[in-house]
Amino acid sequence: MDKWESFRGQFPVCDEYVYLNHAAVSPLPLLAKQKMDQYLEERTKHGAAHYPDVIWEMLTNGRNLGAQLLNTKPDQIFFVRSTSQGLGVAATGIPFEAGDNLVLVEKEFPANLRPWMPLKRRGVDVRLVPQRQGRVLIDDLAAAMDDRTRAVSVSFVQFLSGFRIDCAKVGELCRKHDALFVVDAIQGIGAFDLDVEACGVDFVSACSHKWMLGPEGAGLGYASPRALERIVPALEGWLAVENPFDFFDLEQPLKSTAARYEEGAYNSVGLAGMLGSLELLLSIGIDQLSERIIGLSDYVVEGLKTRGWQVHSPRKTKAEKSGIVLASKEGVDSEELGKRLKAEKIELSLRAGALRIAPHGYNTNEDLDRLLALLK
Ligand SMILES: Cc1ncc(COP(=O)(O)O)c(C=O)c1O
Repeated sequence: MDKWESFRGQFPVCDEYVYLNHAAVSPLPLLAKQKMDQYLEERTKHGAAHYPDVIWEMLTNGRNLGAQLLNTKPDQIFFVRSTSQGLGVAATGIPFEAGDNLVLVEKEFPANLRPWMPLKRRGVDVRLVPQRQGRVLIDDLAAAMDDRTRAVSVSFVQFLSGFRIDCAKVGELCRKHDALFVVDAIQGIGAFDLDVEACGVDFVSACSHKWMLGPEGAGLGYASPRALERIVPALEGWLAVENPFDFFDLEQPLKSTAARYEEGAYNSVGLAGMLGSLELLLSIGIDQLSERIIGLSDYVVEGLKTRGWQVHSPRKTKAEKSGIVLASKEGVDSEELGKRLKAEKIELSLRAGALRIAPHGYNTNEDLDRLLALLK
């Protein structure tokens, strides 16, 4: 059995479905379920008798795996409950002053817009950069920035068009203006490499339920050393301090690590599952997964074009491709087609009157053929 076959073996979802909806919610691999079952067994049979070791081990493993995924040190990793919650840490914690501005991108998924909107209401100059045929141009970001730009927040991969931004270029701009570089990474990490240190990223938030193949409610955050200096947790939880079990010392300092952004009890079941998923992804290798996902998405793009479909995702260079392919065809009622595909157990999303097709590394060309056969 080759490695892709054994990877596919982790996904019983394949027995019933052609699952092409990883840009929405991924199915769980067996390893994630196994880790969650183990944790549930532990809590069911032993309660918290083995705490804090059980939790400690998960947190340590999670920080190590997160650091491996993002090419950083475990101390820079923290856990988020959702992408929005993690982005909220940045939005509520960056000390904006009168005259400061913030750069965002128009028509991104609202998880990376909504948490910033209270700043706009408070009078922060929020600059929205347009998307051009699904792309976010570095020149547009550059034109929106100046020396009063405190932060730029962009999606690594656009949820609709699938455009993957060159984070190194955005990082350069942010360094030039001494702005914090914040990334909503949920549509990319797990499938594509995001080297936060090489790209000068300051802050990342991503829940694990898409390309990381984990459960909802558990995700990864990253904060660079300068983000730790600048982003003050608006919610200072009891776990944010150096010695949380020194309950009555209210004067003690915050943790020096990114764990200062974790406030209280963990979503332990979710974390257990996410650890299984990350272990699985890293055992295959993110570079190999990216190659495979690009290969699958190229294959479906080819098939769509030969059937007269228009592909809206920017795919001129390999670097801008992702696992998301958005396509439509004139005269095709996408709602109607969506119902037919659902009846045929082909799972994907309908977005903006188009099909959003999002294969992961365990999918095959045969899966895509089953979809294409229904698009005649
Ligand atoms: C770009 C992007 N960010 C965030 C999310 C989800 O945010 P959250 O984890 O807060 O539900 C999605 C999709 O659901 C998304 O496409």
